[in-house]
Amino acid sequence: MRILGIETSCDECSAAILSGPQDVTVNLVASQVDLHRIYGGVVPEIACRRHLEVINPLIDRALKQAGLSFRDIDAIAVSNAPGLIGALLVGVTVAKTLAFALDIPVYGVNHLAAHIYANSIQFGEFDFPLLALVVSGGHTSIIEMRGHHNFKILGETRDDAAGEAFDKVAKYMRLGYPGGPIIEKLAEKAEGKGLTFPRPMLKSGTFEFSFSGLKTAVINHLRSREGEKTTPAEVCRAFQDAVIDVLVTKTLSAAESTGIDRVLMAGGVAANRSLRNAMKSNLEKKGIRLFVPSPALCTDNAAMVACAAYYMNKAGIKSGFGLDAHATFDLENYSNENQG
Ligand code: KG4
Ligand code: ZN
Repeated sequence: MRILGIETSCDECSAAILSGPQDVTVNLVASQVDLHRIYGGVVPEIACRRHLEVINPLIDRALKQAGLSFRDIDAIAVSNAPGLIGALLVGVTVAKTLAFALDIPVYGVNHLAAHIYANSIQFGEFDFPLLALVVSGGHTSIIEMRGHHNFKILGETRDDAAGEAFDKVAKYMRLGYPGGPIIEKLAEKAEGKGLTFPRPMLKSGTFEFSFSGLKTAVINHLRSREGEKTTPAEVCRAFQDAVIDVLVTKTLSAAESTGIDRVLMAGGVAANRSLRNAMKSNLEKKGIRLFVPSPALCTDNAAMVACAAYYMNKAGIKSGFGLDAHATFDLENYSNENQG
């Protein structure tokens, strides 16, 4: 089954063609970062207007690069939830229109599921049960999977997502946008190791996260006299260390309490090299295998959307024109969305 994937949930406009579950023919990503940078974050209205301008030419380019025409496409997959509603609507409208005109199925894919299935592109079909840690700009969730598109959320963030905390700290420090890669780079230059920040919810006994308090601790430190004695690089490293410590500790305890020994990481923050290294070494010490896709498959892209749809089809989840765009949507029940 050859699937055209469409991704417009936030500030990346992407079109991809997947010729098989692990066969990415083309995966084009038109980033809007330059457009939003001056505002220090994504402006929803600007994002959806840009998606509208970019998506059709991007799909045409994807087909051209692949040497294919619309007639070679067997199904369309689109991120339809969660995300910025205006941005999602652009992708959903394009996907449904194309599918209707071509008389092929259209799959509405949950964006978190898409991030998880980025692992399948790189590592092949999942071996269940497994745990997935999704760490992105909008989500921080530990999810148990016992079959394709069978999700049980073990814990989520109560406030800011990990990526959101990276972005907000970078914005406060006037480092630029998006904050994650900038903080990662600056943290590498830190010399002193004395500074530490609190590890939120570390001992809560749950798999829930909270990064808003950590962000406030960083801001309070920067405003204090102590803040004047530390370099931006030290602050970035101490902040990043705190985020990583919480993510690693919670993932490890989820693996130990469920007895599941395979963990997938996914989402933009999973591109962070220090997090990848820390997660790998700590999980491997306990005999747990870690899978993390290449950084380009961690951040938003349409190939992961198409791959998730491939396994929706395999799991017998129906496609359907009843699908709509939703700013929020329950991952555990979203497959019903396609009916209709
Ligand atoms: O998955 P993604 O592309 O979009 C969402 O679904 O949110 O994730 C974007 C988030 C941003 O918050 C960005 O700062 C963060 O991922 N990010 C990183 C890194 N690269 C992207 N965070 C930490 N380290 C990185 N290298
Ligand atoms: Zn994403």
